[in-house]
Amino acid sequence: MNGRCSFFRFSFISFLLLLYFCNAWGFITHQKFQSPSITENILDDRYIVQVGHASHVAPFVDTLTQSFAQHIQIKRRFTHSLFSGVSFTLNASSQYNQDLHALFNHNNVTAIYPCRLAFAPTLHSVDSKTAFTSMPINASDIISPHRLTQVDRVHKALNYTGKGVLIGIIDSGVDYYHPALGGGFGDGYKVRMGADLVGDEFNNVGTNPIIKPGPTPLDTCGPHSGSVGHGTHVAGIVAGKAENFTGVAPDATLGVWRIFGCSGGTSDDIIVQALLEAEKAGCDIINLSIGDMNGWSETVTSIVASNIAKRGIHVINSCGNNGLSGAFTIGSPSTGTDVVSVGSFDNEYNLVPHFRAVGTSDKTPYHTATGFDETFPPGDIVLGDNDDDDGCAVSALIKGNYALVKEGSCPLKTKVGNIAQAGAIGMVVYNDAKDYAYRPIIHNTAIPVLGVPRIHGHNLMHQLVSNKTASIKLRFLGPLPSLITSAKTVSIFSSVGATFELDLRPHLAGIGGSVYSLLPRSLGSWGFLSGSSMASPYVAGSVALYLNSLGNKTSVNPKVVLERLQNYAYKAPTQNGKDNLDSPLRQGAGLVQVYDAITQTVHVSPGYISFNDTSSTQYKTHTLHITNDGEEHVSYHLFNNVSLGILPYNLAKNGYAYSEPINYTIAPAKLRFSKKFIKLSPGKSIKIKVTVIPPDTDPKQHVMYGGYIQLKSGNHSGTLDLSVPYFGVSGKQKDLPVLDSSTPFILDGVDSTIIYGTNDTLVFNQSSINDQPAPQLAIRFLTGTRRVLYELVDIINRTVIGYVLPPSSYLPRNTLGIGTKVYIHPLQGVYYATTRAPSSPSSFDDDNDNDDDNDHALLIPPGTYRIRIRALHLFGNPNDSNDYELRETGNIQIVE
Ligand SMILES: *[C@@H]1O[C@H](CO)[C@@H](O)[C@H](O)[C@H]1NC(C)=O
Ligand SMILES: *[C@@H]1O[C@H](CO)[C@@H](O)[C@H](O)[C@H]1NC(C)=O
Ligand SMILES: *[C@@H]1O[C@H](CO)[C@@H](O)[C@H](O)[C@H]1NC(C)=O
Ligand SMILES: *[C@@H]1O[C@H](CO)[C@@H](O)[C@H](O)[C@H]1NC(C)=O
Ligand SMILES: *[C@@H]1O[C@H](CO)[C@@H](O)[C@H](O)[C@H]1NC(C)=O
Ligand SMILES: *[C@@H]1O[C@H](CO)[C@@H](O)[C@H](O)[C@H]1NC(C)=O
Ligand SMILES: *[C@@H]1O[C@H](CO)[C@@H](O)[C@H](O)[C@H]1NC(C)=O
Ligand SMILES: *[C@@H]1O[C@H](CO)[C@@H](O)[C@H](O)[C@H]1NC(C)=O
Ligand SMILES: *[C@@H]1O[C@H](CO)[C@@H](O)[C@H](O)[C@H]1NC(C)=O
Repeated sequence: MNGRCSFFRFSFISFLLLLYFCNAWGFITHQKFQSPSITENILDDRYIVQVGHASHVAPFVDTLTQSFAQHIQIKRRFTHSLFSGVSFTLNASSQYNQDLHALFNHNNVTAIYPCRLAFAPTLHSVDSKTAFTSMPINASDIISPHRLTQVDRVHKALNYTGKGVLIGIIDSGVDYYHPALGGGFGDGYKVRMGADLVGDEFNNVGTNPIIKPGPTPLDTCGPHSGSVGHGTHVAGIVAGKAENFTGVAPDATLGVWRIFGCSGGTSDDIIVQALLEAEKAGCDIINLSIGDMNGWSETVTSIVASNIAKRGIHVINSCGNNGLSGAFTIGSPSTGTDVVSVGSFDNEYNLVPHFRAVGTSDKTPYHTATGFDETFPPGDIVLGDNDDDDGCAVSALIKGNYALVKEGSCPLKTKVGNIAQAGAIGMVVYNDAKDYAYRPIIHNTAIPVLGVPRIHGHNLMHQLVSNKTASIKLRFLGPLPSLITSAKTVSIFSSVGATFELDLRPHLAGIGGSVYSLLPRSLGSWGFLSGSSMASPYVAGSVALYLNSLGNKTSVNPKVVLERLQNYAYKAPTQNGKDNLDSPLRQGAGLVQVYDAITQTVHVSPGYISFNDTSSTQYKTHTLHITNDGEEHVSYHLFNNVSLGILPYNLAKNGYAYSEPINYTIAPAKLRFSKKFIKLSPGKSIKIKVTVIPPDTDPKQHVMYGGYIQLKSGNHSGTLDLSVPYFGVSGKQKDLPVLDSSTPFILDGVDSTIIYGTNDTLVFNQSSINDQPAPQLAIRFLTGTRRVLYELVDIINRTVIGYVLPPSSYLPRNTLGIGTKVYIHPLQGVYYATTRAPSSPSSFDDDNDNDDDNDHALLIPPGTYRIRIRALHLFGNPNDSNDYELRETGNIQIVE
């Protein structure tokens, strides 16, 4: 009955979903089980088991292999002092059972984690994949982001270049033969160490992905693999060095651990192995441009990353690219304690190919549909169609020329086909909805298709229409710098904080939108990519520069470096030209200003404050420690530099729904300082208490207010202002509904457009369960939740007879994104009699009592039941049944 993995598609109201869920994981019930037990990204039958000590690994593996013989595959062994354990897969015929349960009971086992699928954050923006074989004339300084972050000043004025710092990069492979990465691998080269943990073919699809580890992390994927050269781009941002290109820390040394094949995802156990290897290799800094959307800090990758950070290694992680899905979209492991979570700001210029219509002064930017180069021979442009009434007809004049058309009545594909057929050498297209150069979404065309901004297309059209036989000569100018209007503000894709426990993330930001760096030589050597994946290595390189400023002092608490970078970061408005500050939940402390962080001598700790929600007074007052490490007297006025607040929910929809993307609001908190003016002599420090009075907004809105405690410098000797970002929630998180009011519901197994709501009765035939797809329980979570129970309630006497699924823990919220709209669980007509109900705390303990019998799946006897979802409110106590939200499905009538 178990072991079925179903793929299915269904539509529900406005949802169009493509979700899959493999049920094998759904049936693990063990009190040591950590982290999300049921999400769509759990790998089938894969376990990560942590043991108390490295010496326990070998005997545990022996016991496993003896017990399961050919049914088990040991995947990874970890014998590191920070994490010991093993990951393994059981084949379908011997899934979770009593034997495994008994093994897990052994005292040597300290925790069991699911093994999740992980992806490199998807890359964003129109410019991604634009490849260049050489740098256009004089553009390198203009498109470099270093001016925005003071990295240029650190290079020039301080001569810090990351020399002597070893930075570990955990990513896809790297083309270390790229001249800007030193042209080789090993001692004496820039990419000095690392390994390929997976091989090209690995993509983590299926139960037995092909893994062929290799000795070096070389990326040889090539142009037809789907690979974008992620790792090479990241390595270039950190430490690339060429005639026209300078990475953030161009003299740093790299170790690269390859965890992705040429396409697809990776898994938690591989990330853990890479982290542990990078730590063992002696990396000073580790960069992870990876993540999910789990805003809890209890995932196995968060825990291991956090343990490494506690050992004094700077672990830097992208915060994620899910900003368009609203608040609470931060990914792990950036949620881990002491792991630096990096958001993305946009660069100032990108490079966009341009042409000039001869006789005009306009330079027209364009992007070309994929599959073509960006530059073309000169030629004439003419009207593509004569007749506005018949959108798909084309003009006879286009033969041998470029044809200008407006996107509209005729499908693009048909139009291009007709135009190519008529002998045009290319098609220039504009769209009334697009004010910018855009990449037309069309593939495999016979001729290139160039998307230009509306105004440029319109002007050309106007000239040509006024003389229907006219043509205008086009001269192609190649890529030219083009100003990005959102320069130096938070990238639209950057994930929004906080963690579900209301810890501030991201901590700060690097440049991640439109970053020019290296690509593997097979992909064109150079190009732009966008994502928090690019911002994270930017900050990793910045930390390397900071470490240079410490001379040969090898260890410094990563927290102190983070605080320094936060103290002097640049705080952006929501849009350029606007007179407001963006929320710390989007930008953290702001964009790193590396020169100031290194050269300023006053330091404030902590680097940020969470005032939490309004349910208790415990977090209302914080103490700032201000230290003057310089040689001059300094003085500051403290004031509250308020930012915009965030309205995370849209109360109009379904009672509560996330605003996707977030909605801003004006909701200033008041701050009381124990002192408003301070003077500090050299070498002295002072404490100041800060108390918050949250804004008096409707507590139902759960407004996320924020701002910056600003220390305004009274000096004239170059001592700059410092600031400390703060935020809080005006409302009680515990009051938030956990489930969307439209769920739970049950989807028919055969026809998934049939939905059983609360007033419907599903008739479940026990005897046909093996012959047709199981019905699906659908649940949508508005907030994250630490614990969910799936109770089977007998409707006659209202007793809980058991659980249709094992409890889930640490689930992230759902979003409107495809694949994350709802959680779906197949119902197999079975239940578990375990009594790990929240009201019986003793059942959570780790004793070895042999309650295995209770963990068997039992057939639900004939009768009528409901499934009651019991979901723990944020900040609720798992042992207090009052802290759970209850929701029931309609009736489920079990027949034989
Ligand atoms: C637990 O660890 C001890 C010490 O390494 C070892 O002797 C014993 O065999 C282990 N038990 C299991 C079940 O792995
Ligand atoms: C560097 O830029 C100059 C022009 O600024 C160009 O001539 C040269 O070819 C570029 N070098 C490389 C390696 O791209
Ligand atoms: C800058 O540092 C490099 C090594 O990191 C050194 O070779 C060079 O001489 C230094 N330049 C100056 C001006 O100090
Ligand atoms: C229209 O364009 C053609 C070709 O460029 C030119 O010969 C003709 O004089 C133009 N007519 C007018 C009215 O501008
Ligand atoms: C906020 O308060 C909750 C409930 O008291 C607590 O569990 C959580 O750790 C707090 N978060 C922070 C960042 O202090
Ligand atoms: C490191 O510090 C020691 C002692 O302070 C000093 O003797 C040595 O020259 C320094 N090394 C470098 C490379 O700066
Ligand atoms: C943003 O807030 C306004 C005012 O409350 C509301 O009308 C609008 O629907 C909200 N937008 C979203 C996306 O939630
Ligand atoms: C279910 O039935 C109740 C009582 O008749 C009714 O108030 C409610 O609106 C119904 N719910 C749905 C979703 O039809
Ligand atoms: C409730 O009913 C079920 C069967 O319908 C029975 O097994 C169970 O013992 C009953 N529980 C109580 C407390 O009466």
